[in-house]
Amino acid sequence: MRIAVLTGGGDCPGLNAVIRAVVRRAQNHQFEVLGLRDGWKGLIEDRVFALTRENTAGILHRGGTILGTSRVNPFTLEGGLEKVMSNAAKHRIHAVVAIGGEGTLSAAARLHEHGLKVVGIPKTIDNDLNGTDYTFGFDTAVSIATEAIDRLHSTAESHKRVIVVEVMGRHVGWIATHAGIAGGADVILVPEEPADLAAVADQLKRRYAGGTSFSIVVVAEGTKIRASPDEPEHVVTSGALDEAGRVRLGGVGQFVASEIERRTGFETRVSVLGHIQRGGSPTAHDRVLASRFGVHACDMVARGEFGRMAALRGNEVTSVALADATRTLKRVPAEYFDVARVFFG
Ligand code: F6P
Repeated sequence: MRIAVLTGGGDCPGLNAVIRAVVRRAQNHQFEVLGLRDGWKGLIEDRVFALTRENTAGILHRGGTILGTSRVNPFTLEGGLEKVMSNAAKHRIHAVVAIGGEGTLSAAARLHEHGLKVVGIPKTIDNDLNGTDYTFGFDTAVSIATEAIDRLHSTAESHKRVIVVEVMGRHVGWIATHAGIAGGADVILVPEEPADLAAVADQLKRRYAGGTSFSIVVVAEGTKIRASPDEPEHVVTSGALDEAGRVRLGGVGQFVASEIERRTGFETRVSVLGHIQRGGSPTAHDRVLASRFGVHACDMVARGEFGRMAALRGNEVTSVALADATRTLKRVPAEYFDVARVFFG
């Protein structure tokens, strides 16, 4: 039997660990494995190559993805669906293991409805996929952001400044909340709740009056803000679109920093972590989770469990329907914000 593997969407630490795990487990099942280049685009453009134990050796700890990635969606390209189906038939691909986030796996769910046998593996540093408690890549992103906050703490304290740290998190504030709690942030702003900058300024002034003359503010890139009370809430973008047609986020940290300085008079700086959170080697936790997902997904193919995604529930790897995993995004439970608030001020 022949299976194919692809990685789609934004890259994420642990992708190579999953690819390696799929290839190694495939050997146990005596499956041949093909790699599809650049996500669904590889199947549309017929760019495939054999994945072997040899060409996947030594990649466990490496960041990025040896397959390349893209946000190309077969359903938004003229003839995309037909090309996917005909190239899958041409290469006698029995099933596709699609490693991706909400965009890649939504396309996988639809392709499954059109007859392609698909198994999904959840990946995103944002941890916003439903149906799984955690995605791999998230732990690495949180570790990087936490280390950055630790470093910013000492310089903020020495200079008696406010430092605003902008982290990733398009729709939800998982990275901001976790890194904020782990790094002892004084304010955490997330997409789940529009930012009230007047309240933030008051909070920082109270902290100052209480004798602490520096603060760390963590803001997720997708946090909604408004410049004045009569303006509608909006996210801050560069104005450009990405290849999936989504607005490119970025700039909220600078906006929040300027507003804090204007409203409090405290010297404020901003640090945007950006793609540093996504690059480089995965943590041990993410390597283990990625390996478990890869092995499980291959076993799902062997069992004929198609149209489903490997998922972590508690400490057990199980599976959920792709359609259920991609219907809505997973938000941060209120309990985390309650814990974070205990340490503000
Ligand atoms: O999808 C994960 C993510 O990290 C989002 O938080 C962010 O908006 C996006 O990727 C940015 O990715 P890129 O710069 O590749 O478009």
